Amino acid sequence: MSTQRQNPETETDNAEAEADTETETERNEVARRRAEQRERERVKENERATADAERYHLKVFRYDPEVEGKQEPRFDDFHVPYEQGMTVLDALIYARDEFDVSLTFRHSCRQAICGSDALFVNGRQRLGCQTQLSDLDQPVRIEPLPHQEVVKDLVVDMEHFYDQMESVEPYFQTTDRPEGELEEQRQSRENREQIKTSTRCIWCGACMSSCNVAAGDNEYLGPAAINKAYRFAMDEREGEEVKQRRLEIIEQEHGVWRCQTQFSCTEVCPKDIPLTEHIQELKREAVKSNLKFW
Ligand code: SF4
Ligand code: FES
Repeated sequence: MSTQRQNPETETDNAEAEADTETETERNEVARRRAEQRERERVKENERATADAERYHLKVFRYDPEVEGKQEPRFDDFHVPYEQGMTVLDALIYARDEFDVSLTFRHSCRQAICGSDALFVNGRQRLGCQTQLSDLDQPVRIEPLPHQEVVKDLVVDMEHFYDQMESVEPYFQTTDRPEGELEEQRQSRENREQIKTSTRCIWCGACMSSCNVAAGDNEYLGPAAINKAYRFAMDEREGEEVKQRRLEIIEQEHGVWRCQTQFSCTEVCPKDIPLTEHIQELKREAVKSNLKFW
């Protein structure tokens, strides 16, 4: 194999051309890397902007009387990634599972049936599972129901509320049973229509928490208990005798006459029960039952 020596001038030209090509390639490489870097930054910036736009800022009430350092009530901030259709309850569950397992609140059915997640959200009583995050202004302020003793974080003591409900005997009673063991006790369509909305109560306590009268009078039966009394007192199947006893219960000193028709209970009831209307109707029934004609 022979090695041919080239003309020195040609060699120099070639070397310069090679050097030029290398410089050009390097320049291209640098430019390519810069373009890639810019693209990466742009994508990151977009992701950051999207994430910020899709995170909901929650301010959640915290209090734990049993843990030192947490006995002072405070608000904690959580930034929860938003998904379409997300409710306040979904956001709380995310905050608990992803950020702080000690965050405490009640919930069960997640479909406005069990009544366990009534909360004070942005200044109003609402069910967490029924409230869309997208309907709320940020930061979303989540507190326990007002006028109730806080057990921990968003959990309140419902004992007093249940006592008031029990005091109106919230179960069907009748002295007027149909003859024959298998015979049905019929109710007219009109009567069913009359009590229909009152049967929807899920014992969430939102109405009681919104009521100024209940806040000032611990013995006041409250809108939910009176509505429950209405549900049975107006049920034609119970008969007159039981109805009279029911009216006596709701007529007591801390019963229907305490209501000042402020409508706050009606406004917050998640089942749209016309509570104030039912209370007014029971007042009329009580008056009628006390009228005597000689
Ligand atoms: S009446 Fe309405 S607000 Fe009151 S406890 Fe029942 S469902 Fe809740
Ligand atoms: S979780 Fe049952 S009513 Fe909201």
